[in-house]
Amino acid sequence: MPHETFHYKSWADIEHTAASLGISLPRSENLDVLKAPLDIGGHTAHNRIALQPMEGTDGTQTGSPGELTVRRYLRFAEGGAGLIWFEAVATAPEVRASARQLMITEDNLDDFKRLVEQVKETGLKKNGYAPVIVMQATNSGCYSKPHGYPEPLIAYNNPLFEETPLPQSCVLSDAQLKAYEERFGLAARLARAAGFDGMDVKCCHRYLACELLSAYTRAGAYGGSFENRTRFLLNAYRAAQANISGDFFLTSRLNVYDGFAYPYGFGVKPDGGLTPWLEEGKKLVDILKNEMRIPILNITIGNPYKNPHVNRPYDRGNYVPDEHPFAGVDRMMRCVGEIQRAYPGLPVIGSAFSYLRQFSPQLAAGMVEQGSCAMAGFGRMAFADPDFPNKILSGQPLDAPCVTCGGCAQLLRAGSPAGCIVRDRKIYSLEALK
Ligand SMILES: Cc1cc2nc3c(=O)[nH]c(=O)nc-3n(C[C@H](O)[C@H](O)[C@H](O)COP(=O)(O)O)c2cc1C
Repeated sequence: MPHETFHYKSWADIEHTAASLGISLPRSENLDVLKAPLDIGGHTAHNRIALQPMEGTDGTQTGSPGELTVRRYLRFAEGGAGLIWFEAVATAPEVRASARQLMITEDNLDDFKRLVEQVKETGLKKNGYAPVIVMQATNSGCYSKPHGYPEPLIAYNNPLFEETPLPQSCVLSDAQLKAYEERFGLAARLARAAGFDGMDVKCCHRYLACELLSAYTRAGAYGGSFENRTRFLLNAYRAAQANISGDFFLTSRLNVYDGFAYPYGFGVKPDGGLTPWLEEGKKLVDILKNEMRIPILNITIGNPYKNPHVNRPYDRGNYVPDEHPFAGVDRMMRCVGEIQRAYPGLPVIGSAFSYLRQFSPQLAAGMVEQGSCAMAGFGRMAFADPDFPNKILSGQPLDAPCVTCGGCAQLLRAGSPAGCIVRDRKIYSLEALK
């Protein structure tokens, strides 16, 4: 059933509709809670607004930031967010998600260094502080498209994703996985040398490390038990740890719930259908906190391709879910809150704040105030209005919010430079796809 589109004129309207769905979304009018600084492993985020990683598909063929990449990040830096979680950066050429995905190498290290320096300088000059900046290191696994068409490298065949099983040559062997773990060591060394404050061993949205979390049916050392399914992620951490020093930190953007039933989804009980069950997620967070010593964690759920309504609630799109977008926002906030409350000493960044448009600052403040997350992480909003953090922090209304139309995601899927087709239409348009 198609749901109604966003038409709410006030929080009272939102709360009325939410109540009819049995939902109560966090809300606070005290936006000052978003102004509090946060210590992240010795680095200071000057406020509680984070920009979530957003691939722009605008790198050069060799993986360096392109002109539009630089434009995006300098606009983000001016916007005043306390933390910028830099988009997915490939750890090997064959696992790039597109021919334009960023990829950090010895050869292009200086290009990344220049961009990070510019981001820090721009933030400092405009806002009086530089954002904390974390590089997301990725192996795109099943979503690898290094030449612009799918060349999947999967952890296991899965009927939810492949109607006919992919050939064995697409299924990564244990030896290949071992080699890919090591690539996170190189990525960490390069990320640190480029000036990033930390690196994310990406474990979300079914990219390789995340896919492995649900590899219940895979045989061998990387499938079956919790220990085996988390082996890749934790070995990637160990490889990264061996290559860093000083105050450079490691972290993850982690899916605690995939939204697929057992045995193809992480974060559900074997007999629990699609109901989120975060016990294994918490067990993993425990290891990341206590053994890997992460100073911050970024929580997300769902999959951008198969259940995008779980991952980023939206208004329009090809895929019309049988649920109200508020239910998606509620599910995300509950999952984030459950993890944060289980680990109050570990700052957690929440995801998917954009759906509430001009009302999202109150959702962000509500989440932070009630201890359900330490930072509110916005994705699509930053494409629509890169100045939105400063607007929130200075009490101005969000007058040009994201309308969750899905245009940016369509551009990304097509391998075109991604940005806001509504608010930044001189640069980004779906016409390019025709
Ligand atoms: C165009 C586009 C690119 C994205 N790129 C990434 C990425 O590189 N890494 C990642 O973890 N998530 C990525 N995401 C997901 C976002 O970070 C975010 O989780 C999602 O948009 C929900 O947040 P929002 O409701 O604030 O937009 C991307 C989403 C979009 C629409």
